[in-house]
Amino acid sequence: MNMTVTPSGEACGARVEGLDLSQHLTDAQISELRSVWLTHKVIALPNQHLRPEDLERVAQYFGEIGEDPFFGHIDGYPNICAIQRDADEKTPIFAEIFHTDWSFMEVPPAGTALFGITIPPQGGDTLFADQVKAYNDMPEQLRHKVDGVTAIHSAAAGYAPDGAYGQDDQDNGRSMQIKPSEKARETCPHPLIRTHHETGEKALFSSAAYIQCFEGMTLEESQALAMELYVHQTQEKFQYRHKWEKDMLVIWDNRSLLHSATGGYDGYDRLLHRVTIADTRW
Ligand code: SIN
Repeated sequence: MNMTVTPSGEACGARVEGLDLSQHLTDAQISELRSVWLTHKVIALPNQHLRPEDLERVAQYFGEIGEDPFFGHIDGYPNICAIQRDADEKTPIFAEIFHTDWSFMEVPPAGTALFGITIPPQGGDTLFADQVKAYNDMPEQLRHKVDGVTAIHSAAAGYAPDGAYGQDDQDNGRSMQIKPSEKARETCPHPLIRTHHETGEKALFSSAAYIQCFEGMTLEESQALAMELYVHQTQEKFQYRHKWEKDMLVIWDNRSLLHSATGGYDGYDRLLHRVTIADTRW
């Protein structure tokens, strides 16, 4: 059956139908799917009936399985974590800030695969922001400020024992398995503007959740620039609002997008299975 690609009509994103991912794809299908992914940056494949091993196999069409340094995993599948929130949970929504996954790693993940299992009837959309468009559409005075700048990334604010997902958060009853650690305090520098090594496109690689400061700037200067950047790069004109369906697989490119979870589903369970896709190099 032929693959049908329907662009979202928003800044990025496409719906891909006509593939049955519970079956092995041919090399030609994988190559076509990867190319659609690189073009649209985030693809949604509805009505997929995937066992955990299928999810792992499909993720590997896009790259090797990546690390998840601060997540637990579902039983029997060390590569799959549950993005989960229970109906009666009172903890803050996980990852409700624009970020790119694990940007503090030396080679951050190429992509992420997320599979909808329990989808609430309202809320819980995922927002994506196209950072190639954000780079290309940057006001000259902002471009001047970010050219040649290196950002210092770290997971401390989220995953250190005193971070947002640290011990207090665990004690408040978060259902998702998060493993805070002192290791989260390590830092890693990355240029603020990166060239995607598969598409050649330049993008902003600025992840509010993980950037601590910018090299050569005071904390105050760093915070002012981070705020100015965040306002620019998350504008609605760069966004795609993804609405979930049960049995829908979404795969996004972390090198050219930011994403953010959203709430609005208190009183309903939400459960998705996630596999991180490693990159081969920066
Ligand atoms: C994530 O950032 O991995 C979670 C996204 C979501 O829950 O919508």
